[in-house]
Amino acid sequence: MITCNGSGNLDAVVLGVDHRLRALSRLTDAEGALVRAYTEKNPAAFKGGAIHVLHSVVDDAVKVYFLVGIEEDSPERGTFREFMYARKIMAAAMDEGVSELAVYIDTLNMDVETLIDGLLYDNYAFNRYKTKVDSKVLKNINLITSSLKSKDFNTLCYVYSSIYECIYLARDLVNMPPNEMTPRKFVDTATSLCKGDAIFVEVLNKWNLEKRNMGGIVSVGKGSMNQPQLLSVAYTGDPESRDVVAVVGKGITYDSGGLSLKSCTGMEYMKSDMAGAAAALGVIRALMLLKYPVNVLAVIPLAENIPSGMSYHVDDIITMFDGTTVEVKNTDAEGRLVLADAVAYAQSKGARKVIDLATLTGACVTALGTVRSGMIGNDQEWMNRFFTAAERMHEKVWQLPADEEYERQLKSETADLKNVGGSDGGAITAGLFIKHFIKENTSWIHLDIAGTAFCEKKDENGYYGATGVGIKTILALLRGDK
Ligand code: BES
Ligand code: MN
Ligand code: ZN
Repeated sequence: MITCNGSGNLDAVVLGVDHRLRALSRLTDAEGALVRAYTEKNPAAFKGGAIHVLHSVVDDAVKVYFLVGIEEDSPERGTFREFMYARKIMAAAMDEGVSELAVYIDTLNMDVETLIDGLLYDNYAFNRYKTKVDSKVLKNINLITSSLKSKDFNTLCYVYSSIYECIYLARDLVNMPPNEMTPRKFVDTATSLCKGDAIFVEVLNKWNLEKRNMGGIVSVGKGSMNQPQLLSVAYTGDPESRDVVAVVGKGITYDSGGLSLKSCTGMEYMKSDMAGAAAALGVIRALMLLKYPVNVLAVIPLAENIPSGMSYHVDDIITMFDGTTVEVKNTDAEGRLVLADAVAYAQSKGARKVIDLATLTGACVTALGTVRSGMIGNDQEWMNRFFTAAERMHEKVWQLPADEEYERQLKSETADLKNVGGSDGGAITAGLFIKHFIKENTSWIHLDIAGTAFCEKKDENGYYGATGVGIKTILALLRGDK
């Protein structure tokens, strides 16, 4: 929970310190003397970027102070650096094992939105499968201010708590192991969460999908006992309008590669191949909480890509929902097949704007690493807005080119398309495969989150696991779309 001027104890305190020690006015005399003495002996505490942890017993209570060095000439507000700084404060608090944190925001000289964002980003742990839990998650973060803006800060706290509740949900779904998080389990979870007036859930099972000729989803799911599903959740926040934005998320609950089997190490973390699906569901949940006046249709194709005697083959030719025929040249390029059906379905349901999110290609990780998601689309103005929203929400993206020359790589000798375009420009050809299923008058953004959805090695703040990337930016974009 995060509150502004809420109740809570002051045993763990975050305080900005500069040379003039203006922050001391917030403290009792005894505390002020302590902090003054410490900083006199440790001038390094004033350095921008420094966080000093000071333990003490003051007025009969055990206290911990997180002294945050403040740069004199106020740096630009709301930057990625500031976001990382806020994350670092949280990581320090979690390391100390405090359960409540009081943050004197007036002393910090930071953009409050970025501060809240960073604090909440790290206040998460996935402990569901540990029999002995020593959770480091803080119960309460209390922002303390004497500013007249405290009402606005309260609203910010509510908005960010709601958004992060949904980010944590998405992270949980991605972190869950694939023996548990099957297509059916995802559908059941979504169905139980998505109830209410403005919400409509539709689930198509394997039989329904076969009947509708959704060859992409059906083929990818053929090898598994856990049958494929197509989940759609419609959120109608503006019933007067017919405008619908579709958010399509890749939901491969496990990607072994299928008959084009991955290597042992290549398979690791492939439980995260449904991160796009989790983000799409997270967006819907956030809309339910925040009640934005927009219409959003989440379309989530779910399947497990596993080899068996029932699997789809390399060389299969499949007919997709929109009638396109596709020659399968690699069963590990499964994401684009399920997404193609899903974006076509979204448009058949009336969406004229489509955002798809997918852990789609290793090539995107090669191109952009784990720092930025790849972006491709057909509407430059909308992509520009997405880029701006992504920067503001500290979820970096970078646009990749989408010249039609690349499309040649997807030509097949025997069908309309093949599902791989060779190793050159792999993230681009994967995106352009999906583009084939986007109608001329539909605005479309494709995000390849293969490098950004799951943190495989602890990052500089010690964060490990699913990130929930995409939710914040899409919500910011939807908020601005109105
Ligand atoms: N899910 C993978 C992409 C991926 C790789 C996500 C690494 C996260 C981390 C995707 O289905 C895949 O296997 N893509 C292939 C495509 C290739 C066969 C054209 C790849 O990137 O190797
Ligand atoms: Mn694959
Ligand atoms: Zn995949």
